[in-house]
Amino acid sequence: MSQTLQHMRLGLFIQAAGHHASGWRYPGAQSGSENFALIKQLTLAAEQACLDMVFFGDKLVTSPQEHPSMIVRFEPLTLLGSLASITDKIGLAATASTTYGEPYSVARQFGTLDHISAGRAAWNVVTTGYDSAANFSRATHPNHDLRYEVAEEFVDVVRGLWDSFDDEAYVRDAESGVYLDADKMHRLDHRGKHFSIDGPLNLTRSPQGHPVLIQAGSSGPGMSLAARIAEVVFTAQQDIETARQFYGDLKRQVMAQGRKPEHCLVMPGIMPILGASAAEAQDNFERLQQWTNIDNALTLVGERLGQDVSGFDLDQPLPDLPLPENMKSRARLLLDMSHRDGLTLRQICNLVAGARGHKIVVGTPAQVADEMIAWFEGEAADGFNLMPPHFPEGLDSFISGVLPILRQRGVFRHEYSGATLREHLGLPRPAHRRWNGQI
Ligand SMILES: Cc1cc2nc3c(=O)[nH]c(=O)nc-3n(C[C@H](O)[C@H](O)[C@H](O)COP(=O)(O)O)c2cc1C
Repeated sequence: MSQTLQHMRLGLFIQAAGHHASGWRYPGAQSGSENFALIKQLTLAAEQACLDMVFFGDKLVTSPQEHPSMIVRFEPLTLLGSLASITDKIGLAATASTTYGEPYSVARQFGTLDHISAGRAAWNVVTTGYDSAANFSRATHPNHDLRYEVAEEFVDVVRGLWDSFDDEAYVRDAESGVYLDADKMHRLDHRGKHFSIDGPLNLTRSPQGHPVLIQAGSSGPGMSLAARIAEVVFTAQQDIETARQFYGDLKRQVMAQGRKPEHCLVMPGIMPILGASAAEAQDNFERLQQWTNIDNALTLVGERLGQDVSGFDLDQPLPDLPLPENMKSRARLLLDMSHRDGLTLRQICNLVAGARGHKIVVGTPAQVADEMIAWFEGEAADGFNLMPPHFPEGLDSFISGVLPILRQRGVFRHEYSGATLREHLGLPRPAHRRWNGQI
């Protein structure tokens, strides 16, 4: 928690078949990433609970061995467009790739979402670790450094396009006949290494000025990008010490960029597994874990480590493996846990199948609240991205059990005080680049 934050920020990461790989098998779970009625119900419940935002991730390839929530999934921007019209307050965040997208389209999609939601849009900038070339008529998947080099330029172009108009350009004065003040409309004329884009975007500046920028890669280049442009950082850490280290490193990099640390919020993923007693919570966790199929779990671990691990001994720590080209920071976390903490491949499989490497907290509502507060007050997190193991009960039990304790302890809001996502998160509205001397 930075000195100036009074409340933790809470987002709901929605994967409707549940975040635990076996969550869909839990009694009462409504499974199916294509269950739109459930997605609406979860979004409305999150808004009723005054959470900051709902978030939908994205991946551009699939296979039958995927996590059940990821085998099929809706295109997130289309989904958020529809959720915008049934909600009033909650932030609407989605992933879009800088490797397989086009800046003009991304600027337009999130700009439109910000307009139609009256200032609630957020873009999770990812470089896409998984090779998706075959679905985009590309010969190869670009390497890690190149992906981040492209991402830096991509984000700058999108931000430039969002400033295609001055705030007060849209005159629409019936009396004078001035519909739009053409002097307040600006071409971008970007000529860079990877993109050549004229602009202007065919959208005026949106209610938030710019949609909120989220970033979700924690490798060296990922952190550099985050420090320069991200207003929220999604991350995955298992223990408070590693989380504190990441938090401190990132905030120092943010300040070195001349930015305020509280304008780059760190939100690790957390999977709460709840029970009325600690023993009941542990039973619930074990029930989920026992359904885990080891072959699928090995595939998920192999994807993160960038190589086939099915031949390794399940009951030994992992051998020394080189960092892969795709998910560097995730691979680093898993290898560290195995080498430093002695976790066997089987234990790593359980962790990854459980929460894909995010933190799992098993306990009573009070124990889960205590852990969250310890991270928030211990400068390990500014808030969390909630990843319930199954839906809807995994969310409902968090809202009815943990949230009242967080409120009682004064670390979470009782009601929304603002209207836009920037206001919920305490982020400033970005000045137009004209005022930064860039036009
Ligand atoms: C909470 C969270 C959500 C993420 N969502 C996505 C996503 O939807 N799509 C994606 O391709 N990557 C997503 N990522 C990011 C990838 O994990 C990231 O691209 C990968 O770690 C490679 O980047 P890195 O080497 O900088 O860590 C997410 C990460 C986190 C922590």
